[in-house]
Amino acid sequence: MISTLSKFDIKDASLAGLGKKRIEWAGNDMPVLALIAKRFEKEKPLKGYRVSACLHVTSETANLMITLKKGGADVALCASNPLSTQDDIAASLVKDYGIKVFAIKGEDNKTYYSHIKSAIEHRPHITMDDGADVISTIHKDWDKYRGEIIGGTEETTTGVIRLKAMQKDGALKYPVIAVNDSMTKHMFDNRYGTGQSTLDGIMRATNILFAGRTVVVAGYGWCGRGVAMRARGIGANVIVTEVDEIKALEAAMDGFLVMPMEAAARIGNIFITLTGDINVIDGKHFKLMKDGAIVCNSGHFNVEINIPALEKMSRKKREVRPFVMEYQVNSKRIYLLADGRLINLASAEGHPASVMDMSFANQSLASEYMVKNSSKLENKVYTLPENIDREIARLKLSAMEIKMDKLTSEQKKYLASWQEGT
Ligand code: ADE
Repeated sequence: MISTLSKFDIKDASLAGLGKKRIEWAGNDMPVLALIAKRFEKEKPLKGYRVSACLHVTSETANLMITLKKGGADVALCASNPLSTQDDIAASLVKDYGIKVFAIKGEDNKTYYSHIKSAIEHRPHITMDDGADVISTIHKDWDKYRGEIIGGTEETTTGVIRLKAMQKDGALKYPVIAVNDSMTKHMFDNRYGTGQSTLDGIMRATNILFAGRTVVVAGYGWCGRGVAMRARGIGANVIVTEVDEIKALEAAMDGFLVMPMEAAARIGNIFITLTGDINVIDGKHFKLMKDGAIVCNSGHFNVEINIPALEKMSRKKREVRPFVMEYQVNSKRIYLLADGRLINLASAEGHPASVMDMSFANQSLASEYMVKNSSKLENKVYTLPENIDREIARLKLSAMEIKMDKLTSEQKKYLASWQEGT
């Protein structure tokens, strides 16, 4: 196995000491991934495979990279968002673990894409995405790097939506496993991870009190459900906006006020978008907002908020705290957090390790599955088999020392029959 690159691009290698301690701390709360790493170290299922990963460069991602390396993979990592990189983690991955990292927190768009290209120059057999940027780049501009690729994995809802659109158009040129579609991913990471880390991000950026405030949550998918639930838990009045009638109904019956954004804009104090779509908060909504409204996004891309419209309608802007930009709009002040980037990763540390444990158990088992099954897979988007998903749940329960019941043979028979017990 010849390594293709020896270079890296990080902010400051001297941060490695701090990064290593944080990687180990996160690892303490990732018992399922640790079990996989132990098996990978013995069995080396990824030996001879190069992986190009484009993920948020966090202490949890570091533990995934280390697991893949233990499995025999030669790994290159770039960031999946210009603001989400933890520079100390990037430093430690390079210095302590010999992993090629191309990521600097706050990098401009040009550097962000040049880092993606550096990761692709690693000539991957497997691509690992969070938002489909590597796959898109290979499909749009860099077909020459597709030759050795056996497949990819995708971490997030937004990426999976894109990949399914590519599949529908017949444009997808290699198989991809939608890690997001595993139950042990989206039901936990998207809901409990986003729920907690989004509020954490807003609190770290602003230090505001949520109790008694009106929080508007745009989108009631798994992420929106988590944020709405946790905002209510901390004492906020929560409004949900939706375009899907089933989700709107679910939000209403979960006890949230549901209304159009145009109505919510007039009464909200804090706005959080998690829809995966564009201009959910638009120019016309900014005009209706109260003085002091705080606006942020926890969806994958910062297109959910129409920032160009806000820029255009504002007379002046100034940064009042790190990640808090004050816009003067007529006589009102509107505060945009983290330039509309994922607030949980920009001003906090992303989802806690305990939930990323399951997401990254899925990622590592997805790469092993890809190696074992690529010859049978077509150029489509796949979900990991349910037995793998359920095994991850069993391992997590065991790590949490939670026991559950088993069906008796009498109960199994009852469930399988249509004649008994009516
Ligand atoms: N996405 C959300 N939180 C994350 C984390 N802590 N690490 C990597 N990706 C994430």
